[in-house]
Amino acid sequence: MLSQAVLKALNDQINFELYSGYIYLSMAAYFETKNLKGCATWMRAQAKEEHSHAMRIYDFIVKRMGAVKLAAIAGPKTAWESPLAAFQDALKHEQAVTKRINSLVALAGKENDTATGIFLQWFVTEQLEEEEQTDEIVQKLRMIKDSANGLFMIDHALGKRTEG
Ligand code: FEO
Repeated sequence: MLSQAVLKALNDQINFELYSGYIYLSMAAYFETKNLKGCATWMRAQAKEEHSHAMRIYDFIVKRMGAVKLAAIAGPKTAWESPLAAFQDALKHEQAVTKRINSLVALAGKENDTATGIFLQWFVTEQLEEEEQTDEIVQKLRMIKDSANGLFMIDHALGKRTEG
């Protein structure tokens, strides 16, 4: 059985993962307005992935016979000054998610909840990947600076993302 503290933290994390998805969907909408369809495709896939993260926690709470409690999702930003600014925000956000996962792992340890600790290891590994892939895009966007050609190429490459 989950302790009240772990249950609350897991429910909060469901909300944060859905909020993450909301942010990425908002970034997708921003890229649509800039006609950067590849960036929009990448963000849509990322939004789906965040939803799957939320569901992973949802299913874990159910399996541990806890109650899932959904809360209101905060409104995301709707505009960025450049594609680089949007991806920089995405990276900052992923770093915040990593911090939260680390705090959850620490809480599970404090509560002597080994099952939750093991469950969270998947998220620890996932965050390494999330930060790495977002950082790579930020570096590329920095590299091309104001080159329209460079942006066109990056947009094309990001549009190949299919998994979410
Ligand atoms: Fe679910 Fe991108 O962290």
